[in-house]
Amino acid sequence: MSTNIISYVIDNEENKVIYSKNIDDKIIKDIDQIKSDKKILFIYDKNISNKIILEIKSKLKITGHILIFKEVEGKKNNKNLNNLLKLFNLLIKNKFTKNSVIISCGGGVVGDMCGLLSSLYLRGTTYFHIPTTMTAIVDSCIGGKTGINYKGIINSMGNYYHPKRVYISEKIINDIPSREYYSGFAEIIKCGLIGNKKIIKFLLRDKNLCKRLNSKNLAYIILETLKTKINFFKNDIKERNKRLNLNFGHTFAHSIEMATDKFLKKDFLRHGEAVGLGMLCEIMLQKGKNSETTYKLTKQLLSKYNLPTSLEIPSNLKKKIHSTIYEGIFLDKKKINKNPRYISVKKVGKSNIMEINDFGALNDVIFKITKEI
Ligand SMILES: NC(=O)c1ccc[n+]([C@@H]2O[C@H](COP(=O)([O-])OP(=O)(O)OC[C@H]3O[C@@H](n4cnc5c(N)ncnc54)[C@H](O)[C@@H]3O)[C@@H](O)[C@H]2O)c1
Repeated sequence: MSTNIISYVIDNEENKVIYSKNIDDKIIKDIDQIKSDKKILFIYDKNISNKIILEIKSKLKITGHILIFKEVEGKKNNKNLNNLLKLFNLLIKNKFTKNSVIISCGGGVVGDMCGLLSSLYLRGTTYFHIPTTMTAIVDSCIGGKTGINYKGIINSMGNYYHPKRVYISEKIINDIPSREYYSGFAEIIKCGLIGNKKIIKFLLRDKNLCKRLNSKNLAYIILETLKTKINFFKNDIKERNKRLNLNFGHTFAHSIEMATDKFLKKDFLRHGEAVGLGMLCEIMLQKGKNSETTYKLTKQLLSKYNLPTSLEIPSNLKKKIHSTIYEGIFLDKKKINKNPRYISVKKVGKSNIMEINDFGALNDVIFKITKEI
C-alpha cells in the first residue's frame, strides 16, 4: 500500500497524519528537515512489542541526534501528575530546549500526557506522535486535546496542542491486541453516527472487511474517520460548538469509567468500550421513533465489532455503581448551566447538543444499561 497523507492547518501551521506500511523512514526524513537542537526524547509504552520499539530506536540512532529513551506504561491510572513531572524532570536534567523534539509512541494515555508535556515545557516543543492503539489511531492522535487525570476527574488538567506529525503504522496496527483493536471501533462508529453515512454503510458490510490483513479497507475506514473528526474540530478547536458533537457517548462514558475504576478494577473497561455504552445511553435519553432505529443500529454495530452493549456488574455493587455513575454525569465538562449536557443522535449524521433535564429518565437509562451478574 502506498503512503496516505492527511494535511490540516491549525493556527496557520500545517500538521500532517502520515499513514504507511513503514513509518520509520518517514520519521527520520522529517527529523532531518526540521530545525532542531539535535535532541530527541522518545517516550514509548512498555506493552508495545519489543521488535517495533527496537526498530524505531535503531532508525532514530541513524539521525545522529542525542537520544533519550523513556519507557512508560499506558493505562488510565498512569495519566497522572506524578508521571508528568517525572517526564518534565527528564527534559530539565538533559537540558532540552524549545528546539528539541519529543516523540511519543503509545495509546491515548501516552499521547495525552506527552502532548501536555510538549505544550508545557518551555511553552512548547516540537511534538511527533505514533499512536499504537486503535482508539489512539482513529481518535486521540489528532485534535490536540492533551491532559491528565487529577483528583479522580478525567482530563481535569489539560490544554490543546497539536502534534506536528502523526505516524500511523500498518505494522503497529497488525500487532495491537484484539481487545485494544476493537475498542477503537467505538470511536469509528461514533464518527459515522454523528457525521459520515459512508462509515456506517461500510461497517454494516462484511465484518471481515475490517480484519487487519485487509489493509486497503482498513486504511479507508481509518482515514475516513480521521477526516470526519477534522471536519468537526478544525474551526472549533476549543470546543465551543461544533466540536462538542465529537463527545457523543462521552457524558456517560467518562462517568461509567470513573465508577467501574472505583468499584471494580482499574481499566475494567477500555475507553472505547465505555464510549460504546455511553452512546447507547445517550440515544436512550432521547425520545421518538427515530431514536429506536438509531438505538438498534448502534447496538448492532457494537456487537458486530466485539464491543459490550451492557455493563455487567455484581449485584452487591449495583447501588453504589449506579449512584456513582449518576453523580459523575453532573461533573461532565460540557456542563455550562445547572444541568449536564449530552449529544443526541436521532438519525445518522444528525447530532445535537442537549441538556439533561429529566432526572428520572437519567436514572432509568443507568438502570437499563447495567446488567447484574
Ligand atoms: N485526546 C483525545 O482526543 C482523546 C480521545 C480519546 C481518548 N483519549 C484518552 O485516551 C485514553 C485511552 O486510550 P487507549 O484506549 O489507547 O488506552 P491506553 O493508552 O491506556 O492503552 C490501553 C492498553 O494498551 C497497551 N498498549 C498500547 N499500545 C499497545 C500495543 N501496540 N500493543 C500492546 N499493548 C499496547 C497500554 O499499555 C495499555 O495497557 C484515555 O485516557 C482517554 O481519556 C483521549
